[in-house]
Amino acid sequence: MDKWTLGIESTAHTLSFGLTDPSGTPFPSCSDTVSPDEGGIHPREAADHHKEVASVLLGKLLLQNELSITDIGAVAYSQGPGLGPCLRVGAAIARGISSRLGIPLIGVNHCVAHIEIGRDQCGCVDPVLLYVSGGNTQVIARLEGRYRVLGETLDIGIGNMLDKFARTQGIPFPGGPVIEKLAAQWLAENPNPSMDGLELPYAVRGMDLAFSGVMTAAQRLLDSGKSLGAVCWSLQEHAFSACVEVAERAMAHTGKSELLLGGGVACNMRLRKMCELMAEERESISFAPPRMYCIDNGTMIAKLGFLELQNGRITTYAESAIDQYLRTDQTPISWA
Ligand code: ATP
Ligand code: FE2
Repeated sequence: MDKWTLGIESTAHTLSFGLTDPSGTPFPSCSDTVSPDEGGIHPREAADHHKEVASVLLGKLLLQNELSITDIGAVAYSQGPGLGPCLRVGAAIARGISSRLGIPLIGVNHCVAHIEIGRDQCGCVDPVLLYVSGGNTQVIARLEGRYRVLGETLDIGIGNMLDKFARTQGIPFPGGPVIEKLAAQWLAENPNPSMDGLELPYAVRGMDLAFSGVMTAAQRLLDSGKSLGAVCWSLQEHAFSACVEVAERAMAHTGKSELLLGGGVACNMRLRKMCELMAEERESISFAPPRMYCIDNGTMIAKLGFLELQNGRITTYAESAIDQYLRTDQTPISWA
């Protein structure tokens, strides 16, 4: 193919357009994230936001790369999982571009896209993936042509948990980065911290995880007079070590020696450090992609679209409906 692949991401709070060049090399996205004044994200309001900003964002992306729309030879979009109204906006834009330009349409799995951009950026071959985002928390490994979920959250995603906890303290979405900052500041003031009085429930349930109890208990610590910084630190330590423990067991079980972080929470420096320490102890390596490719981005959708297209898969109009509940292991993986 001598043309570029456009990727459209719209699973939740972010609308993002990204590109891969004719050889499949990723180029940074143009994104816009809805940030509600108060409360959580309302799916229909987010969808309205996506509709409003779409054409300006796409224009910006093309301009920034000195391309015209006719340089695009295929269009990929997040088919799921995600919020229905948001997914439908991305799918509708993709169908429109595909039919107007007469180019292939490729509906892709958002979770698999997080994995493939990570492999591309980090150059790892066969990792166990710790996928930690707002809506998802999964430990994944590739076995027999699929990305299999070896463990996952039984209730809310770790990012949602952090965001909800932050919201109770008046911190707007996304709360994860603010919690990271508060925890780091508190640690700088308390260089030899003790968990005494700051214990929280442990989120591990066999190979799975559960975070809602951790959040409630963290709120109770605040009610009992502990400082916000101390509780943010404890919350990170508890929630992240639970994820790292499940990932470590997945590595031991599958015999794999690479760990790859993905999803928005993978931006967190403390989580990255914990993963590095665990991997080192196992004589393995931990990888984390650049932050712009951890959070939701159109580039990862373009990358997976490119891979799917190279392997002969395109999406017909009849198959192009979104699937809010698409699972990581539903998508066959035919590339190396
Ligand atoms: P998915 O659809 O894959 O669940 P998502 O819609 O949650 O993705 P992402 O951009 O992958 O979107 O992740 C956003 C989440 O990442 C938010 O919950 C946000 O608080 C969290 N996050 C971002 N940066 C950090 C950070 N530095 N530390 C902790 N959490 C972070
Ligand atoms: Fe995501």
